[in-house]
Amino acid sequence: MTPIRCILFALVALALGAPVLAAEDEGHARELINALGCKGCHSLGENGGNLGPSLTGVGSRLVREAIHLQIVNPKRNNPASMMPSYDYLPEADIEALTDYLNSLR
Ligand code: HEC
Repeated sequence: MTPIRCILFALVALALGAPVLAAEDEGHARELINALGCKGCHSLGENGGNLGPSLTGVGSRLVREAIHLQIVNPKRNNPASMMPSYDYLPEADIEALTDYLNSLR
């Protein structure tokens, strides 16, 4: 992206209230989602399972803290949750997943 387009993109994103995510961070988060099998239970866009709620637009339904909590401690909200905890991941990966999901509006 040229610098001017980058700035315009950031301004549009800010105007819409969506967090700005660098392309490489988004790519890393998408890789994690595929590698960790989140789509076995969740749909995201066109594909994925339906054991859990769709993650499409999840950032407009949940605040960032709730997304983070669900990733590290899903039993906190639902003691019978089928979702595994991903608290074993490096903190940077947990943050990348949280930021990416939070950016989905
Ligand atoms: C074995 C199935 C399963 C897997 C695998 C799974 N989840 Fe979940 N997830 C669920 C279920 C079921 C819920 C509904 C809340 C609950 O019961 O904990 C949920 C809820 C969520 C929510 C809250 C969504 C909402 O709208 O309330 C987020 C965010 C989420 N999961 C992210 C992830 C991510 C990211 C991964 C992969 C790293 C993942 N999940 C893997 C089953 C799963």
